[in-house]
Amino acid sequence: MTVRLDFYLATNTRLSRKEARRHIQAGEVSIDGVVCRKSATHISADQQVHWQDEAIELAGERYLMLNKPAGVVSAREDRDHPTVLDLLPPDECAGLHIVGRLDMDTTGLLLLTTDGQWSHRITSPKSHCPKTYRAQLAEPLSEEAHAALERGVQLKDELRPTAPASLSAIGPDGIELTITEGRYHQVKRMLAAVGNHVTALHRVRIGGIRLDESLAPGQYRALSAKEIASAGRQGSAPVSC
Ligand code: URA
Repeated sequence: MTVRLDFYLATNTRLSRKEARRHIQAGEVSIDGVVCRKSATHISADQQVHWQDEAIELAGERYLMLNKPAGVVSAREDRDHPTVLDLLPPDECAGLHIVGRLDMDTTGLLLLTTDGQWSHRITSPKSHCPKTYRAQLAEPLSEEAHAALERGVQLKDELRPTAPASLSAIGPDGIELTITEGRYHQVKRMLAAVGNHVTALHRVRIGGIRLDESLAPGQYRALSAKEIASAGRQGSAPVSC
């Protein structure tokens, strides 16, 4: 289904249809990065509309970040453990799904949304969306292991080595690691592949979205329009909150 650009803008912002046309004619509106001055242009739901550099979010879709604590499962339901949805008020949960899971003992940035296309852009292997983790290690990382992780390592029972990662040391036995894939238990298995062991894992960034440090474990907030627009971009600068 497609809708006219002026209708889309008026439906999803505080602008009237007339004001929307004025802003479109003034060149303030773009579709997928290209300025469009024609109000009658038809757009579909998978196109990204910006007005004055702000992404226009389809009314009705919801986008949240949660600071996941340890001990909760990244799933809608679980028979044995509390889930991340148990941390939200029940009326906030309708239609939400989790964008890229974290292990039960992993903490930090978790995204939830009702927008299936948006989450696909982040989780699709073709997007190569960067995710940054802070890992506490059982032992200091050797120079050889550091270099091997940056190059890519062979994981047990996998055909291909991991894609190149970027890595920096934080303290004597901590690292910050950015990967562009989302394989099962990837960070823990990468460290196991170089003979080390992850003792604590915390995600701080997905695409351009950085975990809001003001959120205590278990707290959540809605994403800003800028964060929503920056989520799936490869190498995009984190949006400061
Ligand atoms: N890699 C892991 O090993 N665990 C996570 O929860 C996320 C990435």
